[in-house]
Amino acid sequence: MIYQNDLILRAARGERTERTPVWMMRQAGRILKEYREVRAQAGSFKNLVENPALAAEVTIQPVDLLGVDAAIIFSDILVVPDAMGCRYEMEEARGPVFPQTIRNTADLRLLHVADPSELQYVTDAISLTVKQLDGRVPVIGFAGAPFTIFAYMTEGKGSKTFSIAKKLLYTDPAFSHRLLDLITESTIAYLKAQIAAGAAMLQLFDSWAGILSPDQYGEFSGRYIHRICEAITEVPVTVFAKGAWFAIEDFAKYPCRTIGLDWNTDPRWARQVVGPNKTLQGNLDPCQLYATPEQVAEATRSMLQAFAGGPHIANLGHGVYPDTPVESVKAFINTVKQA
Ligand code: CP3
Repeated sequence: MIYQNDLILRAARGERTERTPVWMMRQAGRILKEYREVRAQAGSFKNLVENPALAAEVTIQPVDLLGVDAAIIFSDILVVPDAMGCRYEMEEARGPVFPQTIRNTADLRLLHVADPSELQYVTDAISLTVKQLDGRVPVIGFAGAPFTIFAYMTEGKGSKTFSIAKKLLYTDPAFSHRLLDLITESTIAYLKAQIAAGAAMLQLFDSWAGILSPDQYGEFSGRYIHRICEAITEVPVTVFAKGAWFAIEDFAKYPCRTIGLDWNTDPRWARQVVGPNKTLQGNLDPCQLYATPEQVAEATRSMLQAFAGGPHIANLGHGVYPDTPVESVKAFINTVKQA
């Protein structure tokens, strides 16, 4: 594939680029009225995710409307447990719910290693997006990290503490490892199918990493992320583990290319821990975007300074919040592009 703009791929490989590439986690979503229109037309979140033509349309919207340097395929991390046999529902205003949770060895009989054909609606959406973008920017594929998926499958819904999920790690580590293993195998096959469909880079989201102690993290999350990174040799991989600053030293040893930082992590400190070779991604506080466009521009410039010690992909420290003013989002993106 020949790209008109491949800044993000070059930055991910650690090459020097004429400017820092920029995209935003959750860029395809409710901040855009054009997204809300397509979402209304689809009728439900799941309908939108499972309709390749509409998913491709909302994936491309931020490229057209915001000028970001990459598209991230519009989907959800929860499609993997869904394909494994643990169905999710997306409840309006409440978020994801799993009517049937997985909490013991007997429950594992309900599950199988997902075959990528069961997620063909995602790979079709990727192929369609790649075709429609026609080389304008690369497409990022993604999956949840196994521990974050485990947290939703066992808990059955979002939670502040995920104490049911954490309890299982302490009380039934054998079961926990078996479930994590099934998720990992499903995820590797799924990510390989995303690459075959045209995803030029991949990101693992470990959104609930920060609820684990460093020891638990290594045993129940890091080792599975490590396994995925070793299995994916075809394209650059980004590991984003929210709240897990303590794991960055380990990530530096994994065969991933980029480490995503949340806004609690000091980029200068991270660069010292990681060394000169890997790319860092992040990390403006999404709440900073509630300030005026002028303040956003200033904060963005100081963020860029903090990352100046090595290869960088500009992003927020987590997904953009749905009620963020689009002018501030544009101030963030344009400031990176003009720096
Ligand atoms: O632009 C992009 O980043 C691509 C789209 C994307 C979505 N979900 C769409 C979505 C991505 C990368 C995700 C990943 C995801 N999903 C994560 C990891 C990233 C993170 O934020 O930590 C997690 C934890 C989920 C699970 C999930 N999906 C939750 C908890 C919710 C409800 C909360 C919310 O934001 O409403 C979702 C729903 C969801 N996924 C929406 C979108 C645009 C909102 C629902 C809607 O538009 O109707």
